[in-house]
Amino acid sequence: MTTTTLDKNKELIEKINYLRRKKNAIILAHYYQRGEIQDIADIVGDSLELARKAQQTDADIIVFAGVRFMAETAKILNPEKKVLHPNPESGCPMADMATYEALKRMKKEHPDAVVVAYINTNADVKTLADIIVTSRNAVKVVKSLDAKKIIFVPDKFLGSYIAKQVPEKEFILWEGFCPPHFNLTAEQLLELKKKYPNSKIAVHPECNTTAIEVADFVGSTSQIIQFATTCEADTVIIGTEVGLKHQLEKINPNKNYVFPETADYCGVVHCCDMKKNTLDKILDVLENETNEITLPQEVIEKAKIPLERMTQIV
Ligand code: 13P
Ligand code: SF4
Repeated sequence: MTTTTLDKNKELIEKINYLRRKKNAIILAHYYQRGEIQDIADIVGDSLELARKAQQTDADIIVFAGVRFMAETAKILNPEKKVLHPNPESGCPMADMATYEALKRMKKEHPDAVVVAYINTNADVKTLADIIVTSRNAVKVVKSLDAKKIIFVPDKFLGSYIAKQVPEKEFILWEGFCPPHFNLTAEQLLELKKKYPNSKIAVHPECNTTAIEVADFVGSTSQIIQFATTCEADTVIIGTEVGLKHQLEKINPNKNYVFPETADYCGVVHCCDMKKNTLDKILDVLENETNEITLPQEVIEKAKIPLERMTQIV
C-alpha cells in the first residue's frame, strides 16, 4: 500500500471508530475480506462464528462485511437489529445457483428427503430447508439427522465431501459450485507439494473433489487457520481464497503459506464479490445508515427455523 493510501485509510478508520462507538455498532468481517477490513473488525470469523456473533450481540447496529447471504443470516438470527451491508452488489454466485422455485420442484420430486441447505443460500431458499449447515459443522449436523435421504443444496462439492463421510445416507446433490474454488486443481496442489515436499496441504470443502482428495486437511476458513498456524510443517499449501493470507501471517508469521496459482483471472483463488466491500463503504453505511438488510417478516420467520436448528446442534 502506498503512503497516500495508508494516510487515507487512517483517516477513514478514525471516522469509523468514532461512529461505531457513538452508534453502538459492531463490525463483523469474513476472512475473505480485504486485510484493512479484517484489521478493524470487532470479529473476523468463518460463517458459523459470524452467525453466532450476530445472534448474540447487544450492539444496535451490525455492519456485515461479507457477502449478502451472510448479512441476511445476521438479520434472520437477530431481526431486531439494524444490519447494514457495505456493498449490496456483494453477492455469492454459488448462492444464486439455487433458486426458490427450482428447489421447490426438487422437493416435490423427493417428498421423503430432508433438505439440508448450506448457509451459502439466499434467504428465500433457506425458508425451504429443514436445516442449515456451514463448512465447519456440515458433517456433524448431517450425521445427527434421522433422515436416510438428503437433498443437499447448492454446493455439489461440499455435498460430495459430506456424502463420503456419511455413507449410510443417500444424497441428492444440487448442481452448484463456488467459481473461485472450482478453479483450483489437484495438479496445481501436487505441483507445489513437489516443490515443498515437507509441506502440508489444507483446503476448503468448496474445492472440487480431486483437490480435496489430495489434501492433508479439509475444513472451514477458521479451521484451516487453526491447522496451518499450529501444524508441524513450516510450509502449508492453502487451498482457499487468498484473503486468508492476511490472518495467517498475522497469527503465525514464522511460517510460509503458499497459495497455488490458478486459471482465475487474477491468478489465485480470489472472490471478487468478497472484495467489493471497502473501508469507504463501511464508513458510508455507518454515517448514513444506508444499505440496510430488509426481508419480509414471513421469510425471516421461516428461515430462522432451520438456522436455529443448526445453532442448537453445534
Ligand atoms: P467458511 O468461512 O464458513 O469456511 O465459508 C467460506 C465461504 O464459503 C465464504 O463464502
Ligand atoms: Fe460465494 Fe465462493 Fe465467493 Fe464464498 S468464495 S462468497 S462461496 S463465490
